[in-house]
Amino acid sequence: MTEQRTTSGEKLITLDNHLRHRSDCDAGLAAILNEIAFAGKIIQNKVRRARIADVVGAVENVNVQGEQQQKLDVFSNAVLIDCLSNCAAVGVIASEEEEQALILERRKGDGEYGVLFDPLDGSSNIDFAVGVGTIFSILRNVGVDASTQAAILQPGTQQVAAGYILYGSSVLLVLTLGDGVDMYVLDPATGSFLLVQEKVSIPTAKKIYSINEAYRNDFPKGYQDYLDFAHASGYAARYIGSMVADVHRTLLKGGVFLYPPTKKNPQGKLRLLYEANPMAQIIEQAGGKALVGKTRLLEVKPEKVHQRTAVILGSSQEVDAVARHL
Ligand code: AHG
Ligand code: MN
Ligand code: MN
Repeated sequence: MTEQRTTSGEKLITLDNHLRHRSDCDAGLAAILNEIAFAGKIIQNKVRRARIADVVGAVENVNVQGEQQQKLDVFSNAVLIDCLSNCAAVGVIASEEEEQALILERRKGDGEYGVLFDPLDGSSNIDFAVGVGTIFSILRNVGVDASTQAAILQPGTQQVAAGYILYGSSVLLVLTLGDGVDMYVLDPATGSFLLVQEKVSIPTAKKIYSINEAYRNDFPKGYQDYLDFAHASGYAARYIGSMVADVHRTLLKGGVFLYPPTKKNPQGKLRLLYEANPMAQIIEQAGGKALVGKTRLLEVKPEKVHQRTAVILGSSQEVDAVARHL
């Protein structure tokens, strides 16, 4: 991992500046990433002030996935849509919290990119000061068709960029443009995301598994066999219950994060487009692996906007260890 430090001893390369010096980031893509970062600043402020601003708890609605929406889910979704709607490079938006992909009509066939996001990941943790985050990916807009939503039903291999913003004890933006992973930290003093690490790499092995083990009896047998192997092999368990926080720890520390199929969610629980694909690209770009069963996750061709999937991702040797049991 390359540490970024200037002669002053401070880390002073802003996200905007860093993107401007990249040959693989055109002006439209940079504008989108800056809007997402801006939305992240607004969301993190609301998350931190949740009890003061009276945005704790649920709203009356359930979302299209049948899940209870939290006030902060609704707020975060609205902020991202507002910010991205101001961005000429965006032709289509898809959100976990919206029934349909939103086609920005006035630039149909024009906005070069589609942006997909889980506005606030970790709903069950947001009222308890536990890490939550925004997960996103960006695709080329391959011809907007309002009836089929074809523009966003592309496999993860087509993602131009993917990342997440983790609202934890510090606020981190982790980003890939398909050539390694960079990490930025929000500096509370200046309000800027500053580059702290380029080319983040995931350890190749670490005996940590991250899974909701309470569902063990509902997992297919292969996953149960893997857990038996892990118990017999000196593994530690770490599970926060916010994918963004669990994957972030896995990225930096190593290990494997799993959400298998269950009896309740036979296809898996996590959303392919908003959660699994962005995280899979981050992990692969850091040198790890991401699978659904034994298949590379990024190669799955989505059929539905809100499609769910099982997920195994993390350190290459740990993902292989799970796959050996399936
Ligand atoms: P969301 O809050 O966006 O609906 O996502 C919640 C997801 C994910 O963050 C986490 O990994 C998973 O739900 C936890 O599910 P369980 O409570 O079933 O373990
Ligand atoms: Mn989520
Ligand atoms: Mn969410």
